[in-house]
Amino acid sequence: MIAPVSGNIFAPKEDATRAQVAAALMAFDQLPKGQTEPEQPAPQPDTGEHVLIAYFSNTNQTENIANLLQSILNADLYKITPETPYTSADLNYNNDSCRANQEQNDNSARPAISGSVENMAQYDTVFLGYPIWWGQAPRIISTFLESYDFSGKTIVPFCTSGSSPIGSSAENLHALAFGANWLDGQRFSGSASSETVESWVSGLDLPEKQAHNAAAQTKGDASAMMKITINGTTLTAALEDNSSADALRELLANSPLTVQMSDYGSMEKVGPIGQSLPRNDRQTDTQAGDIILYQGNQIVIYYDTNSWNFTRLGRIEGTTAQELRGILGSGDIRATFSLEE
Ligand SMILES: Cc1cc2nc3c(=O)[nH]c(=O)nc-3n(C[C@H](O)[C@H](O)[C@H](O)COP(=O)(O)O)c2cc1C
Repeated sequence: MIAPVSGNIFAPKEDATRAQVAAALMAFDQLPKGQTEPEQPAPQPDTGEHVLIAYFSNTNQTENIANLLQSILNADLYKITPETPYTSADLNYNNDSCRANQEQNDNSARPAISGSVENMAQYDTVFLGYPIWWGQAPRIISTFLESYDFSGKTIVPFCTSGSSPIGSSAENLHALAFGANWLDGQRFSGSASSETVESWVSGLDLPEKQAHNAAAQTKGDASAMMKITINGTTLTAALEDNSSADALRELLANSPLTVQMSDYGSMEKVGPIGQSLPRNDRQTDTQAGDIILYQGNQIVIYYDTNSWNFTRLGRIEGTTAQELRGILGSGDIRATFSLEE
């Protein structure tokens, strides 16, 4: 168990403490024989922007989604912990007078939070997760929003529920965070897959994305985006910030590249680039939509997961895994890669 850096804050982008390194080494040592490496979240580009995922969860459903988000976004994680924890009796909504129901019935209820976010000012974007209680966010979310200055920050609400949609629960919080830019929220089932969460994130208009694109544009005429045309459908992919993607960008600046790609392993389409690009290989868990450089001279479009030592060139955006599978089909394809003007 890795200890938080303080209170209930985990800061994956900071240097690990000696205690955290020791805990990680012990955990590694205790892995079953034959299992060589703990599962690693895919490495994410550091855009220089800071994202916090703050969430409240009693039965781990919202926590599951917060954890998935954390590995997708490389963000800090903060669990909103009540000063007085909720017992199962407190959460028994069949009992009209249980604590949760009483709080939901009282507009002014503000259950106290134990601990606080250290240096909230550093975050540009806050993902805010909660379970739906009687169609709304639990009152402790109001406590949280009233505890900090959110002006100028982007807040992205998400929730889990038995079946209810997010409904008006997020809009009803807007007035509590003055000056924040609220994005539309999303409801998930607590067992939603990483792909589901990732496809939601890739469609969000986050400040990180704007900063990333703006940074790429100020690099001169280097485009951050690549087009991939397959059977008359054009997909858009964001290029990675590494020397391999730079070399691909240079290649495509001369002329578009058409590659005959074979289906392999019911997870990818792979074909020769016709020359070698610099490699930045590292252990990578692929997701549907990843564009990968394999052995320095083959380009791969993933439509399912794989784990290997290779280089990420970019990632298809705005297309769900299911849509991508439909576009790629089951056989061989010809794909044309070009730069977006
Ligand atoms: C007091 C209370 C009220 C709830 N009201 C609803 C509701 O209105 N609609 C719904 O679909 N689920 C409702 N639920 C179920 C939770 O939203 C669901 O179990 C949620 O995923 C729990 O998240 P957690 O494990 O992160 O706490 C309610 C649960 C509680 C405890």
